[in-house]
Amino acid sequence: MANKHVQRPIHRAWWRESSVYQIWPASFKDSNNDGVGDIPGIVSKLDYIKKLGVDIIWMSPAYKSPQVDMGYDISDYYSMHAPYGTVEDVDRLIEGCHSRGMKFLMDLVVNHTSDQHEWFQKSRSSKDNEYRNWYVWKQPKYDEQGNRQPPNNWISHFQGSAWQYDELTGEYYLHLYAVEQPDLNWEHPPVRKAVHDIVRFWLDKGCDGFRMDVINFISKNQDFPDAPNKDPSQIWQWADIHYANGPRLHEYLQGLGQILKEYDAFSVGEMPFAKKLDDVLKAVRYDRHEINMIFDFAHVDIDHGPYDKFVEGPWKLTTLKSMFEKWQTFMYENDGWNALYWENHDQPRSIDRYTNAKPEDSTIAGKMLATCLALMSGTPFVYQGQELGMRNVPLEWPIEEYQDIDCINHWKGHLATEANNTAALDEYRRQYQKKSRDNARTPVQWSSEPNGGFTGAGVKPWMSVNPNYAEINAESQVSDPSSVFSYWRSVLGLRKKYLDIFVYGDFVMLDKTSEEVFAYTRQYEDQQALVLCNFTDKALKWDPAANAVGKVQDVLLNSYGVSEKYQDETWALRPFEATVLLVTPTA
Ligand code: GLC
Ligand code: CA
Repeated sequence: MANKHVQRPIHRAWWRESSVYQIWPASFKDSNNDGVGDIPGIVSKLDYIKKLGVDIIWMSPAYKSPQVDMGYDISDYYSMHAPYGTVEDVDRLIEGCHSRGMKFLMDLVVNHTSDQHEWFQKSRSSKDNEYRNWYVWKQPKYDEQGNRQPPNNWISHFQGSAWQYDELTGEYYLHLYAVEQPDLNWEHPPVRKAVHDIVRFWLDKGCDGFRMDVINFISKNQDFPDAPNKDPSQIWQWADIHYANGPRLHEYLQGLGQILKEYDAFSVGEMPFAKKLDDVLKAVRYDRHEINMIFDFAHVDIDHGPYDKFVEGPWKLTTLKSMFEKWQTFMYENDGWNALYWENHDQPRSIDRYTNAKPEDSTIAGKMLATCLALMSGTPFVYQGQELGMRNVPLEWPIEEYQDIDCINHWKGHLATEANNTAALDEYRRQYQKKSRDNARTPVQWSSEPNGGFTGAGVKPWMSVNPNYAEINAESQVSDPSSVFSYWRSVLGLRKKYLDIFVYGDFVMLDKTSEEVFAYTRQYEDQQALVLCNFTDKALKWDPAANAVGKVQDVLLNSYGVSEKYQDETWALRPFEATVLLVTPTA
């Protein structure tokens, strides 16, 4: 029954010991009352971030961009989106991080650019210009009736075909995302050289590394075959088998990795559809020097429909646990590394996704999720507002409040085809409130002042502030020892204090069949910690004997405040209770 502990020789590294705080520039803090967050606003809150106890700040794209996809459509990698500020502001931000002992990451978005980027403007201008090959251009296909068709049936992540016809030269270009986000052609050496130049430019400026946007999509199957027809309701089909972790991915990552190694830089790669363990390991194994860690998607896709995220996807806690267990043990055994996250700018708020917490339970549920995540093996990521227990947008919000291209394109598509099906449209709206990226993008709630203190009173922010800002805001939490903010601080502090256990220890999942409790141990040599999380709003009993848990030596942390009741033989867990115990190892 007892799980045998095996202490592996594990490489120590600063980026394994660190934690990261993600900033979404438009919604973080508006310094000049134009309703849009900006870089000086970030600089003004560095002490707040430092207080949380994170080591690194990652800023989502703030480069020059027409903002079709909130800056993930870059038109110039060397200048900033004017409402956010200037390159000099970034210099000040980097300086502000460094002077507080924190590092700073940029977002590297190089699977695609904006269609307004000079490279694409040139590329589309004629078939024989120097930049034509920088993007993926293909001849049309024709069906039996002689109608022009895209080169294959790939679907775009933002609805419809992944190919756009360009009248001027009579060819299609590939865009895995919006029409305005053409994919770069990494097969073409000058593209790789241009990306390397961008990376060096920002590292030379003092940037400490990168979060790499959909980095496993950069190598595509060069035959561009049709994707299998899996979703019968669609013409366009998911083609990830032809572009996720493609044939030359590791060669390209090695190229980037060489530069990162030179600077001892941090890297985390976003990798949707990365299902093959061995292939992921090639990217993150310590001695490969490609990237440090990846964002896996299994646990955030858990509530998606089979082909459409805006379709209800029922899930169980046992499934969630098995997804984590797989990566936790695999990385530990193979000298790889995990990036740990519940939230980011693409995901709804975690309290809403993973619990059924009522508004009044936000604090206790937020603390539980913090414990569960940050004490697993890996580098924890906190997304702005998560440290306050921010929640999804209100159910009553009309569709006009939603702004994300992913959600809006979905809505428009279904309005066009199902205009009379009120029940279907209502259901989609319900799903948007659960899963739209808008949920993460409402402004940070700084205080109980109008607009939550994000921008001036009377200013109309680019996106409405969640009306619960009077209850959930930073001002009331920073100095309150019982707040979610203070608790996150304690969790991150505990992880540092018991570095061997929580960073370098093994991971063993306990009580795998429970649909209520997420329980695991972390062990380093003869030091063991037990983490117990009640994912429900009910009081439960948990049996330590059935899980071969040793004697309790100390209570390290508890979401209700430290208590001594764990000396009992059968342990009671209050609603959403999380507890961290130092125990005597039994194996
Ligand atoms: C990534 C980003 C997302 C963006 C997409 C296209 O998934 O996280 O926000 O829309 O890539 O760049
Ligand atoms: Ca502003």
